[in-house]
Amino acid sequence: MNSVATPGAPDMQELFPYADGPRLASATPDTGSIQLKWQNGDTTQLPWLWLRDHCACAECRHPQTRERLYIPLVPIAVAPEMNVINGHLRLTWADGHRSAFHGGWLHQRRPEVALPNVLPEASAWRDHFTPERIEHAAFLTEKGEQAWLTAILRDGLALLTDGPLVEEEVSRLAEKIGPQRATNFGDRFDVRSKPNPNNAAYTAVGLALHIDLPNWHHPPDIQLLYCLQNGASGGESLFADGVRVVEALRAQDPSALRTLSETPIDFRFQDEAHDIAMRAPLIDLNADGSLRELRFNNWIRDTLHLPAEQMDAWYRAYRTLWELFHSDEHQLEFTLEPGQMIAFDNRRVLHGRRAFDPNSGQRHLQGTYLDRDMLESRLRVLARQLH
Ligand code: OGA
Ligand code: ZN
Ligand code: ZN
Repeated sequence: MNSVATPGAPDMQELFPYADGPRLASATPDTGSIQLKWQNGDTTQLPWLWLRDHCACAECRHPQTRERLYIPLVPIAVAPEMNVINGHLRLTWADGHRSAFHGGWLHQRRPEVALPNVLPEASAWRDHFTPERIEHAAFLTEKGEQAWLTAILRDGLALLTDGPLVEEEVSRLAEKIGPQRATNFGDRFDVRSKPNPNNAAYTAVGLALHIDLPNWHHPPDIQLLYCLQNGASGGESLFADGVRVVEALRAQDPSALRTLSETPIDFRFQDEAHDIAMRAPLIDLNADGSLRELRFNNWIRDTLHLPAEQMDAWYRAYRTLWELFHSDEHQLEFTLEPGQMIAFDNRRVLHGRRAFDPNSGQRHLQGTYLDRDMLESRLRVLARQLH
């Protein structure tokens, strides 16, 4: 592969496309580094050790797993011999080891630009937001799946429509993306009113806006709820965007935001077999003040264990946030039709439902969870395939 006599384009053991990038024009030695210039005029400077560390030969990067084998412990003290051949960089190190770098790969990985990213930024719901709708049949195509994944990561939710009325469809759809994230409620759960409920969702009562399982260290990232029956009166679905509402709280009452984001409180679920508990603030912010995650669920909030003099302020802040979330301005309401599935970012978008009358008809949803990593992974793989 590294033969200088018949140099093909170097294989960087990298699945993200890079071969379309510009070719190198020249490589010039500098102290401890090499200056590169591409045919389109772009330039960069890369230290010897960085180049040695990124050698993609079979000794330095496992040819099956594509994982790094080389460990960068020995400083590189001697300049390599360097050649640009057909727009690619070829180096021979002082110990005789040879490295080849594709010009397009180096261009993609140069430190001046961000690494390749196909994931959308989260964007807050605007006024009159409506969820992106993707038909079930479209979801089964690469383009449709990509649109569904993009909507969930960008808006925090997406509505799938026109699906079949068959049990377990939610699991089949989830497993196109990744393994179902199991919890104490199983890897797939039925939401309907049950004789001996161990959870408010398994009754007919209304569910105020909440996230599922804030009592876990890592609450489920993405929730899927597939509607099989919705013939009971009531039972409308409710959603609100945490990103939008946290911004509204910051504008309206910054001290309430500070209280809720800086005061850890307890969350807890208990039944005969479990006692799952977590202490964390209701709102977790990133260093730049943007929302990292919400833990909002009134019925599995545990004892409010705070110094007594902090309690009034906490309850006041909670009431302010509660009223914002449940206001007409922020709460989205619609009826899930049988054959529709709503999927949402459980750590960003709150969900709930209106009470229903179990004597007026059947209501049956099936749900499961997914890890966000699997959605991001599918988007990267699809970008590779649709390239
Ligand atoms: C749940 C839930 C909503 C609904 O199961 O966690 O919130 O519409 N269900 O029943
Ligand atoms: Zn190597
Ligand atoms: Zn829920």
